[in-house]
Amino acid sequence: MTMLSDSDLERIEEEIEEMYERRIEEKGTTPEGLYWDSAESMAIRFDAALDMYDFSGKRVLDVGCGFGDFYEHMCDTECEPAEYYGVDISESVLDVARGRFPDCEFERRNITRRPFDDRQFDIAVVFGALNHKLNIVDNEVYFRRVLRSCCASSDAVLVNALSRYREGDWPWEESVHYHSPEKAFGYAQELGRDVVLKHDFPPIPQKEFHLLFRTGTEDSGVTDRSGVAEIGSGDS
Ligand SMILES: C[S@@+](CC[C@H](N)C(=O)[O-])C[C@H]1O[C@@H](n2cnc3c(N)ncnc32)[C@H](O)[C@@H]1O
Repeated sequence: MTMLSDSDLERIEEEIEEMYERRIEEKGTTPEGLYWDSAESMAIRFDAALDMYDFSGKRVLDVGCGFGDFYEHMCDTECEPAEYYGVDISESVLDVARGRFPDCEFERRNITRRPFDDRQFDIAVVFGALNHKLNIVDNEVYFRRVLRSCCASSDAVLVNALSRYREGDWPWEESVHYHSPEKAFGYAQELGRDVVLKHDFPPIPQKEFHLLFRTGTEDSGVTDRSGVAEIGSGDS
C-alpha cells in the first residue's frame, strides 16, 4: 500500500499551482487558461453533471473550483445551490473567482492536506482537477486520496476525469493522465454506495466521464462515519 506523505502532497500542490500560474499568464482568464477547450465544452460537462444530481438548494463544495464557472452554470440553469463554497490551490485562479462572484465563499485550500472537519456539504464536485500527469506520485493513488478527502465532509461526491477510452481523433497528450472508468468505479464502491458512472456524453474534445456516489456520511445509510475512514485509510 502506498501512502502519500504530507511532503508529497505539498510538492504536488506546488507543481499544480505553478502550472496554472504559467498557463494563465499564457492564455489569460479564459477556459483555455484552465486547460479547457471552450466555454461550450464546459457547458456540456456541467450539463452532464446536472443530469445526474439535483443541485438546486443544496450545499455544494467545488474542489478545484477554477474561476467559479460551475457556480455560474448552476445559476444560469435554474439550479442555484443554497450554499456554494469554492476551494482551489491557486491564488491567481481564486482572485478571478472572487472578482466574478463576490457573494460566494472561496478559499485557498488543498483538500488532500486539509479536508473539512468543521463543515458539512450535500455534495462535493471535482471537475478537471485530476487530469494532469503528476511527476511526483502515481495519479491513481492521488485520485483515491482526493475522493477520500471529499468524503470527509460531503454526503455525495461527483468527480469528473478524462477517460482512457477514446472516441474521436483528438491525439493522446503526454501531459495528461487518462483514467480507467472501471477502476474509478471500484474506488467509489469501496468508499460509499449507489455509484453511478456516466460515460455517454460526447468527447469535448476528449472523452470524459463523471462518477457520482453517496458517501458514508449522514443520509447514506452507512450509519458509522468511522467506517468510511477505515475503508479508505490507505492511499492505494
Ligand atoms: C482544469 S481546472 C478546472 C476548474 C473548474 N473546476 C472548472 O471546471 O472550470 C482544475 C483546477 O483544479 C485546481 N486543483 C488541482 N488540484 C487541486 C487540489 N488538490 N485542491 C484544490 N484545487 C486543485 C487547479 O488549481 C485548477 O484551478
